[in-house]
Amino acid sequence: MVIMTKLGEKKNEREGMRLGKYELGRTLGEGNFGKVKIARNTDSDQPYAVKIIDKNKIIDLNITNQIKREIATLKLLRHPNVVRLYEVLASKAKIYMVLEYVNGGELFHIIASKGKLTEREGRKVFQQMIDGVSYCHTRGVFHRDLKLENVLVDNKGNIKITDFGLSALPQHLRADGLLHTTCGSPNYVAPEVLANKGYHGATSDTWSCGVILYVILVGYLPFDDRNIVVLYQKILKGDVQIPAWLSPGARNMIKRILDPNPETRITMAEIKEDPWFKKGYIPANPEDEDVYVDNEAFPIREETNEVEQRNSGSATLINAFQLIGMSSCLDLSGFFEKEEISERKIRFASKLSVKDLNERIEDTVTEMGFIVQKKNGKLKLMRENKSHKTLGCLSVAVEVFEISPSLYVVELRKSYGDGSVYKQLCKKLLNDLGVPPKQELMSELSSQLEDI
Ligand code: ADE
Repeated sequence: MVIMTKLGEKKNEREGMRLGKYELGRTLGEGNFGKVKIARNTDSDQPYAVKIIDKNKIIDLNITNQIKREIATLKLLRHPNVVRLYEVLASKAKIYMVLEYVNGGELFHIIASKGKLTEREGRKVFQQMIDGVSYCHTRGVFHRDLKLENVLVDNKGNIKITDFGLSALPQHLRADGLLHTTCGSPNYVAPEVLANKGYHGATSDTWSCGVILYVILVGYLPFDDRNIVVLYQKILKGDVQIPAWLSPGARNMIKRILDPNPETRITMAEIKEDPWFKKGYIPANPEDEDVYVDNEAFPIREETNEVEQRNSGSATLINAFQLIGMSSCLDLSGFFEKEEISERKIRFASKLSVKDLNERIEDTVTEMGFIVQKKNGKLKLMRENKSHKTLGCLSVAVEVFEISPSLYVVELRKSYGDGSVYKQLCKKLLNDLGVPPKQELMSELSSQLEDI
């Protein structure tokens, strides 16, 4: 059974080194746990960024769960302003996270070399940042280390937030419902985090967005001092000088965000209602991307050829890391149960072969009046309602992931359409395909995880 791409062990990754189908290039940056390097997919010639994590470091620091969480967190996120995680590879000593490559560099370098942005440019960056961060918040994911260095820019001038390494999912909240670890760069950290009283991930991320907004519009940090104690005092007091030359709208926005009291600080929803913020605001539509456009969503590795020959359909072979990433949280026990049908996406396990799965899905949905399109081993189910433009219309993408030759995960993702029809369809498919007993599935999964 293929669990993980086996990679040649090398002490240090050098330029030109092969990593499965990727060829590593120069170093793009250095993060908390290792380097980020550019990589080229030798099949498609497309560039990627590979974050290299030293397994020993994470074991020594006792942060294995944090890394697993980062992987899980990133896999849940699909937003044009959030760096996408495509796949995770591992060797004995390293974990390689294959990320979306963002080609315009860090916003930090742009501000450092060219100085502050105009209010118009700055607002656009801020709008995209709020869009990306609030999208993550609605999924229970908080960044906790937002700073200019974590904001990347693409060649169209759009921003992408990276490095969700310190994010925490809701299950890591203490009984009081607040987060309790101090992290993040001091200049960007919210006063309640410094005070170490427990804090809400959302309000403290909002504060960091305010610090970023200040830097991009003013050109320097709102809170700074060579003496860390003085710096902490300034942050705790919310002691900030907002230049009078900024427009009243921008001044008000900064003032409302850099409110040292998290209870009265402006919320993400209120920011989105603010007249200064709303000027020229075009919200991104996160999950409406067409899966067929994005063929690299789960790149099929070399090993899958063998699997594809065995099954007459085709499934994307996933490893246990990806599986962890796909589960709603790290409690994998819930992964194989009939999940509560979400607004957009549901996954469930099946022991049927890909061929049988595809045939049964096709039979069920055709009966319900859907048209089925097949592409790259994925299915697209579509139903139009001729008498009504939107009512009863639905488009759903179906993808089957192979965990082992006898275990598959089916993912149904709504592209657009009527929520109640989508739920009806999910229920019918769950019923017709049957979910195997949990015990059986868990023992299959455990044997895979042991191999990592
Ligand atoms: N530096 C760190 N992460 C990066 C990414 N995803 N793309 C480009 N440069 C980076």
